[in-house]
Amino acid sequence: MTSQKVHLTVNGEAREADVEPRLLLVHLLRDVFGLTGTHIGCDTSHCGSCTVLVDGESAKSCTMLAVSADGCEIKTIEGMADGALHPLQQAFWDQHGLQCGFCTPGMIMQASWLLGQNPDPSEAEIREGISGNLCRCTGYVNIVKAIQQAAGELRAAAAAPTDAPAEPAAAS
Ligand code: FES
Ligand code: FES
Repeated sequence: MTSQKVHLTVNGEAREADVEPRLLLVHLLRDVFGLTGTHIGCDTSHCGSCTVLVDGESAKSCTMLAVSADGCEIKTIEGMADGALHPLQQAFWDQHGLQCGFCTPGMIMQASWLLGQNPDPSEAEIREGISGNLCRCTGYVNIVKAIQQAAGELRAAAAAPTDAPAEPAAAS
């Protein structure tokens, strides 16, 4: 089968690979790029453990061909921490939003997309937003609490004044 070169940006880094047309994005990320934080739970688009962001949109990488992601910006769980844990990662830790952790990377990526769409979601909106991501351990209560905690912190960070010096007052 002829391979095809794809060029992507993954977690801010330019990457390229020769892929077979049938290769799934999740296998490109895990097997070619070594980004094994993106999990495979079902391979049939039901569980959401393979969720990543593709050009800012939530995508189940087990149902997307790698060639379809050519030219796209991909963000995976490995791209979330920036020196410190991302507020979502910290909140899942603080609120005990995980047990075995298998669903967690996909859950955090989905929550990241959700909070990008709606920075102040209600509990019902959070539950609806993560309804495509299955967790067999937690019962979801602490996951919802974690997303609420992160939402509050991200809103506070967005509202905080920046360190940029103020414009000098015009002379009168
Ligand atoms: Fe992709 Fe389950 S592995 S949705
Ligand atoms: Fe185990 Fe969610 S923490 S599947």
